[in-house]
This record gives sequence, structure tokens and C-alpha cells, in this order.
Amino acid sequence: MSDIGKSIIQFIVEEQRNHPGSTGSFTGLMTDIASACKKISHLVNRSGIIGLGGAAESENVQGEVQKKLDIITNDVMVDHLNWTGHLAAMASEEIEEIIQIPDGLPKGEYLITFDPLDGSSNIDVNISVGTIFSILRCPPGVTEPTVEDFMQPGTEQVCAGFCVYGPTTMMILTTGQGVNGFTLDRDVGEFILTHPKMTIPEETAEFAINMSNQRFWEPPVQRYIDECMKGVDGGREKNFNMRWVASMVAEVYRVLTRGGIFMYPLDTKPSTDGGKLRLMYEASPMSFIVEQAGGMSSTGRERIMEIKPDGVHQRVPVILGSKKEVERVVFYHQNDA
Ligand code: AHG
Ligand code: MN
Ligand code: MN
Repeated sequence: MSDIGKSIIQFIVEEQRNHPGSTGSFTGLMTDIASACKKISHLVNRSGIIGLGGAAESENVQGEVQKKLDIITNDVMVDHLNWTGHLAAMASEEIEEIIQIPDGLPKGEYLITFDPLDGSSNIDVNISVGTIFSILRCPPGVTEPTVEDFMQPGTEQVCAGFCVYGPTTMMILTTGQGVNGFTLDRDVGEFILTHPKMTIPEETAEFAINMSNQRFWEPPVQRYIDECMKGVDGGREKNFNMRWVASMVAEVYRVLTRGGIFMYPLDTKPSTDGGKLRLMYEASPMSFIVEQAGGMSSTGRERIMEIKPDGVHQRVPVILGSKKEVERVVFYHQNDA
């Protein structure tokens, strides 16, 4: 029987039955995340009407000007996740310190990291934004988690997912058994499985990179993009198309559906310290999803999933998507550096 049409919670309950000893806590956590994302979808959708557009008067830990919705969506995530007893602590792109569970509330066996609103520069121009999350296990015996407890490589993720608030609201999820896509049915208020077993097409001819950074890239990336631009006139077997949405959620969703490569490589801009995208909120969860969909993800020098973080807000270069294209960029890093 086809799985299409199942609610996300039914899907997860059935998936968890394959894990002997599973307590149901993970299913509870996913229910909370789905609720938070439904609320965020609603707020994003109504932001213009209820006065939530525009910038706040604050900066986040990376020195980026926060949008009002960056702050509000962070609060929605925290408020939905901190009281049900499934988490031991949280870390958010928008908050400098890790977020503890308030005193008096039960603690659980998981840690979560999240980017509550990815692509928030796109809010005011009505382009897709999203939420990205990554679930880790809290080390056994730890009741007061510290930053050190979060310093686990992406290979330790129990689950990674993201929502795109676009023409439809979708949640893309992996627990290490492939990638599944769910669409929010607003009439019934449930995420419904619409895109089972998503795999990244192998044959692709689309690249995504912010070309305005070109002069700051390293030679291997210069070479790869130069060849894409020249297409069949420059030694490649095909011509390429280019996209840059500036919302990673939308770019990764496109890569999952029609293939291609997405890059935010190392550059020499003073504002980016070793890369722009954040390992624990963006790079690591997206790498888990892309690998589970048959793609590849690298900094150019190493597999992102194997990086042991040195801080919750660490940034890394990101090159992900269709395997053959990512392999080519990695090869250029090994041979042109
Ligand atoms: P965020 O809105 O969470 O800060 O993330 C934005 C990220 C990512 O989604 C996107 O790919 C990239 O920043 C866009 O960066 P540029 O504006 O430098 O192109
Ligand atoms: Mn982001
Ligand atoms: Mn963000």
C-alpha cells in the first residue's frame, strides 16, 4: 500500500516501530516541531497583515541585523519545545548561549539545534523562507547540558529536517532511512506525506551560487563556475542554468527535486569567517538530508557530516547536491589548490 496521504505523525510512529526500545519520546518531539512549524507558517503567511515585516532593532550573535520575524519565530520554536519533556537543551542561530529547559519542567533525552527562519532577508520581498532543525542525543547521564554536549559531528544526528514556507508549506525529513517530503494541508492542519523517498537526480545542469562574491573565491571554485558558465564551449558536456534564491531551504528543496549543485564556498570576505553558513543550524542538517537522498556534501576539503563542531555558531563552506558535480568540485580542491 502506498504511504502517500499519511500524516507526518502516523509516518513517524510507524517508522519508530522498526526501532526496538523506542520510547515514543522522538514521536512526541516531532509532534512539537510540526506544531511550531505550522505556527511559523501561519505567522509568515500573515506577516504583512499583522505588522511583522521589517527589521527589528537588534543584531544576532553573527552581527546580522535581525528581522522581527527572526525573533518571533525563535520564540515560537522555544515555546513549543521547552515544556513537553523531550529535550534536555536547545541551541538557536538567533541566541548566543545554549537554551536551557526552564526550572521545574521535565527534561528529555534529546538536544536540538535550529535556524528558526532561514532566508529572512527574503521575507519583505515575498520569497520563500524556512526553518531548519537537527536533533542529537543528549549524552547519557547529562542532566545539565553544556555547549560541549552539543559538539557532535553531523554523523550523530538522529534526525534532520527543514520546512519551506513557499507556495505551499512543506516539511522535508530524514531519520537516516531516506528522505520524505510532507505538505501542510491547511484545511486539516496536518503535514501529509506527498513526496516519499526523495532522491536527487544524477543528471543535472543547474548551479546555485552568489556570483557577486566571485572575486573572493578560491581557484577550485573559480574553475568550476567558469566551466559551468562556458558550458559546451568550455569543455563541459552540457550547458548550465543558474539560480540564486538566497534562502538555503528553497535551494536545497530545488536540488532535491530537480538536482544541481548549491555552493556557499570559502571566500576571503572579512564578514565571513571560514564560510557563511552555520554548521549546526544549516550545513549539518542539510548535509544529512542531501546524503540520504543520494547526493553529496562537502566543504571542498572534507565531508561536512564528519566535522566535529568547535562552537554552536561555527561557520563552514558548503558545497552540496548531485554527487557527480560535488565530486568534481572536491577533485578541483584536491588538484588545483
Ligand atoms: P539566514 O536568513 O538564516 O541568516 O540564512 C541566510 C543564508 C542562506 O539561507 C542563504 O543561502 C544565504 O544566507 C544567502 O546569503 P547571501 O545573502 O550572502 O547571498
Ligand atoms: Mn539560515
Ligand atoms: Mn535564520
